[in-house]
Amino acid sequence: MTKIVENAADLERELTWFRSVLEARIKIHFGEGATEGSVLDLAPPDLGGSSSEYAGFVRRHQLSFVERLALVLALVPHLRPQLLDVCFAREPTVDRRLTELGGVQLRSDGELLPTGETLAFIVGGDDLALRFSVRLILDPQHLFIRHGVLRLGGGDEVTPMKAPLRISEELLCLFTTGEPRRQSRGPGFPAQQIETRVNWEDVVLHPGTRKSLEEIQTWIEHGGTLMEEWGMASKLRPGYRSLFYGPPGTGKTMTACLLGKSTGREVYKVDISLVVSKYLGETEKNLGRVFDQAEHQGWILFFDEADALFGKRSETRDAHDRYANQQVSFLLQRIETFDGISILASNLRDNLDDAFARRFESIIYFPMPRAEERVRVWRQGFSPRARLDGSVDLEKIAREHELAGGAIMNVIRYASLQALREGGRPLTVEDLLQGIRKEYAKLGKAG
Ligand SMILES: Nc1ncnc2c1ncn2[C@@H]1O[C@H](COP(=O)(O)OP(=O)(O)OP(=O)(O)O)[C@@H](O)[C@H]1O
Ligand SMILES: [Mg+2]
Repeated sequence: MTKIVENAADLERELTWFRSVLEARIKIHFGEGATEGSVLDLAPPDLGGSSSEYAGFVRRHQLSFVERLALVLALVPHLRPQLLDVCFAREPTVDRRLTELGGVQLRSDGELLPTGETLAFIVGGDDLALRFSVRLILDPQHLFIRHGVLRLGGGDEVTPMKAPLRISEELLCLFTTGEPRRQSRGPGFPAQQIETRVNWEDVVLHPGTRKSLEEIQTWIEHGGTLMEEWGMASKLRPGYRSLFYGPPGTGKTMTACLLGKSTGREVYKVDISLVVSKYLGETEKNLGRVFDQAEHQGWILFFDEADALFGKRSETRDAHDRYANQQVSFLLQRIETFDGISILASNLRDNLDDAFARRFESIIYFPMPRAEERVRVWRQGFSPRARLDGSVDLEKIAREHELAGGAIMNVIRYASLQALREGGRPLTVEDLLQGIRKEYAKLGKAG
């Protein structure tokens, strides 16, 4: 609840600022005093000490005067539409819009939608240079458009300046209620949330792996301060990318889930195969939605089997290959500009070329567990209700069988089910060895 109050207070100050800018512009425009002054002299409120979502966003992206004005202008129709009435009240006798105001669109339900031209008028009046600065904000390469902060209207407009400015629904929710909007993520949404019930104590990792993981945790904790308060956002690329590589079942997925769980972030797994394998005209758009939402809501994005993204693009034999390559390029480029945390997982490091490796902030190896680590996985893997036959020596089993954590858990599942099937009897060495043989068979090794 306090969050809502804080959000409301900051938006209120921002709207007050907006109104004063708008009024100054109109005064200047109609030649009522203040002609030499510029609206740019009206500094936006200092939200430095506030922890509202809006203030956080402004700080995170170090928004300029014009950017902030664009953002609040896009919020006005939702928060205080009557503010724009000022623009019309001026010429009550003339039933026409101020051309200078640039096609504020009046929808059939009476809602006023400001456009890029509205913004250009408020910022620049007749000053062409200032008006042009607004165009930069509506450029596809600008943060606002690239990250879906603003969407430009229906799309049939001749120029982006004439398109209604719309704020992203997620941001609107975030700025007001402080809660990310729960979207229906339907069948076309190429990502799914992944969670874990385990805790850090349950993961047995090589000390080197654990040490490397601390680096990501440090970023999660202090990255915001570095980029905003230390002002490094202009010098460093946004976000943090990590590559987890190592044999199957060594805990890569589990660790990604845990990083989210322990830092209060949701983890979403992006289905790369869906992205590259299907002719879905919607894929790029859907993928765009994943990144936009992830950015606004602080999700960690997890890309499993990321090998598909590495190394040389496959040769194009047909339209499908071309399509797949195009999707891969799109995905890679988006991962690079993503300002959250992305984790890519792979079994192979060999295919990774140097140019690709440089794109990661960290590359973390998940080796096969050594005997001492395997013992721990075995020891802590059973249900507290499972009883082990006196002949079972877990240390010996762990030493003699070089299995990854995932395979060990498969053996434990198999052996426990054997015991349960037979009235909940104690688990025997034979149960375990049978399970182990099955795992070896999967790996193509002899037991
Ligand atoms: N280091 C570990 N410590 C404890 N348990 C582990 C460990 N690694 C794997 N496990 C167990 O194996 C299961 C599967 O592991 P996980 O899915 O994280 O492996 P992975 O490295 O992502 O494998 P893949 O490369 O096949 O995707 C885990 O849910 C956990 O029960
Ligand atoms: Mg995995």
